[in-house]
Amino acid sequence: SSRLYHKNVVDHYEKPRNVGAFDKKDANVGTGLVGAPACGDVMKLQIRVDDDGNITDSCFKTFGCGSAIASSSVATEWVKGQHVDEATQIKNSEIANHLNLPPVKLHCSMLAEDAIKAAVKDVKEKQAKAKEAAAMAGGGGK
Ligand code: FES
Repeated sequence: SSRLYHKNVVDHYEKPRNVGAFDKKDANVGTGLVGAPACGDVMKLQIRVDDDGNITDSCFKTFGCGSAIASSSVATEWVKGQHVDEATQIKNSEIANHLNLPPVKLHCSMLAEDAIKAAVKDVKEKQAKAKEAAAMAGGGGK
């Protein structure tokens, strides 16, 4: 029955926030794609970052269980407005507590933590490359 789930989970189940995708070629977009070997579920979480590393937007697509979808939804809500270095401090246990996930579902929130970290790593690498390219173009490039 629906009583199995805490209302926060139900809300993020029924109305997941920020489902969607950004252009992953955009230098200011970080993409984190992670999978859970235990169940085969896959989560893609993206962040849009300004030049100072502040996350201005986030979205996700998760092919997985309801708890993974709810965890992604929470993660996208939390990272918005944070600096990338702040976002990587988000712990899966915080997400799990927020959603009241049972122990067997902890790996679902772990996906969200891993996806945030992967997205941050991706955008940092892309921004570094873009800066390098601009420098090599003699500052004349955009
Ligand atoms: Fe694997 Fe939820 S059961 S991500």
